[in-house]
Amino acid sequence: MYTSALLALATLASPSFAAYKKVWDYNSSNFWDNFNFVDLDDSHFTGGFAQYVGIDEALSSGLARINNGKVRLGVDSTNTYSTSSTGRKSLRLQSYGYFDNGLLVGDFAHVPVAGCGQWPAFWVYQGEQHVGSYAEIDILENVNVHTANTHSLYTSDQCTINIQKGNLVPEKSTNCHWKKDGPPSQGCSFNAEAGTFNQPFNNDYKVVALQVESERIRIWHFKKTEVPADLNSASPNPDAWTKAPTVHITPKSCDFHKAFNLFHIVINTSFCGSWAGDDFNNTNYAGQCAQQTGVNDCKTWVAQHPSDFVNTFWEINSIKLFQRA
Ligand SMILES: *[C@@H]1O[C@H](CO)[C@@H](O)[C@H](O)[C@H]1NC(C)=O
Ligand SMILES: *[C@@H]1O[C@H](CO)[C@@H](O)[C@H](O)[C@H]1NC(C)=O
Ligand SMILES: *[C@@H]1O[C@H](CO)[C@@H](O)[C@H](O)[C@H]1NC(C)=O
Repeated sequence: MYTSALLALATLASPSFAAYKKVWDYNSSNFWDNFNFVDLDDSHFTGGFAQYVGIDEALSSGLARINNGKVRLGVDSTNTYSTSSTGRKSLRLQSYGYFDNGLLVGDFAHVPVAGCGQWPAFWVYQGEQHVGSYAEIDILENVNVHTANTHSLYTSDQCTINIQKGNLVPEKSTNCHWKKDGPPSQGCSFNAEAGTFNQPFNNDYKVVALQVESERIRIWHFKKTEVPADLNSASPNPDAWTKAPTVHITPKSCDFHKAFNLFHIVINTSFCGSWAGDDFNNTNYAGQCAQQTGVNDCKTWVAQHPSDFVNTFWEINSIKLFQRA
């Protein structure tokens, strides 16, 4: 009797979820083996002014290196470029591995710091190889001198959501459906709290976590003083965390498992292009880079001011993936 009451209680406390188990631990001991350095220029993607270099050049030039046990991913901060070139040398890493459900945890010692013109991102997506379907979740991304992270979710499925927590970007809807020619199908985006991007992140924050499950998607930001102790264990339990997530969505009319899956991790730093370039000199935005630099055109600034990008680098302690056993 007593035992079955306890069992019933335990069942209540943790619905039907098996515990998380660590499946990936990407860190300084194995990072280069687990990511593909895509050597294309960003004009193939969103019209960016970044020339991504391959692994040989990345390692020999020091753009990618291990620094004090951390994975350091930088951009060229010594050379000038012609504005008609393919752009400033940078890195775009994409994980060979991919996942559907799970808890993805990025632990950062440093995220890129503006650099007017910068457009860094830590995100997950299906990759171009999945013809006819698309899915993307941006975990850490913004441009120029903004100081709050933005999370966007895009899927080629029709996918309406209920927002349990989160600040939807005003012009976006609660249908995360995305189409190349949208609007109106332009995905759903959320503004994170102030201080979660650029130098303010480095001052206070350390860990960003994304949880993708069939019944919910959640994203957290943890300050250095807030990192849950169980993230260092083999089996963290997000349901026991006291810090509220920044974003928590549940499906309204959407099969999350189908709409958000086959995720490769991507870490890339672009310049200018559709977002950073537009924000650079658009007085409707808070970017204000044109005023700050005295240059109206993003490419001209990025091409000619290498030393402005000395701090445009990632320093990664680890990226871990946990999945239900
Ligand atoms: C790095 O990852 C490997 C496994 O992928 C793990 O054995 C090792 O403990 C990790 N290193 C650190 C410093 O956590
Ligand atoms: C990173 O790569 C994607 C394409 O895979 C591209 O759309 C984007 O412009 C690049 N830069 C950022 C910051 O996402
Ligand atoms: C911003 O810069 C772009 C690229 O140089 C230019 O085409 C555009 O007209 C500029 N916009 C404004 C508002 O100055």
